[in-house]
Amino acid sequence: MKAKLGIFISGRGSNMLAILEACRSGALADCAVVEFVFSNKCEAAGLRKAEALGVSTFCIDNEGLKRKSHEKKLLEVLERKDFDLIILAGYMRVISADFVRLFPKKIINIHPADTKVHQGLGAYDWAWKERLIETKLTVHFVEEGLDTGEIIHQEIVNLQGADSLEEVERRGLAVEHVFYSEAIKKVINGKEFKALSGK
Ligand code: GAR
Repeated sequence: MKAKLGIFISGRGSNMLAILEACRSGALADCAVVEFVFSNKCEAAGLRKAEALGVSTFCIDNEGLKRKSHEKKLLEVLERKDFDLIILAGYMRVISADFVRLFPKKIINIHPADTKVHQGLGAYDWAWKERLIETKLTVHFVEEGLDTGEIIHQEIVNLQGADSLEEVERRGLAVEHVFYSEAIKKVINGKEFKALSGK
C-alpha cells in the first residue's frame, strides 16, 4: 500500500513537482503517490503545472477570508479526500492550532533554514543578508506555532562563494528538491507513519 500525499502549495510549486517526479519514478516510487494538490492561491503557477501532469487539483483562495472560514471550507473538501499525509511545499499560509490538532504528525513542512534559528518568510534572503557560509534546511512535523515542530531531517547547503541571492536560492532549491522526498520517505517507512495508518 502506497502512502497517499496531499500537497499544499501557494506559488510556483517546484518542490511539489520534485515530489511528484519522485513518486512517479524516483525515491518515492515504491511507497507514495500524489493524491491531490491544493493551493490557497487560485492563480498559483504550481496548480497549472500539476494539472498539466494529470494531477487532481483544487484551490480555495484565502483572499478576504478569515483563517477560520478558509480552513472550514478546506476541511469540507478534505473530508471527501483520501490521504495519509499533508505535505506543505511552499504553502505560505499559517495553519491554525485547531487545524493542526486534527492531523497530528500528519502534516510535514519544509523550511529553507534551521527552524531553531529562523522562522517565517524570507529564509534565503536572511541567509544572503547574513552572508552565511552554509544554511541548514529543515523538514519537520507541523505543530502549533510557526515553523516549529519535531525535526524529521536537516540538510546543510554550502553557500561558500555564493555571490547573489539568486545563487543562494538556486543552491538551496537544488538540495530541497532531493532531500524533501528523502525525508518524506523516512516518515513513511518510520514508526510514526505506521502508528497513523490504522485510521
Ligand atoms: C521553498 O524554498 C520552500 O522551502 C519555502 O518556499 C519555497 C517554495 O518554493 N518555504 C518556506 O519558506 C516555508 N516557511 P516552491 O513553490 O518552488 O516549492
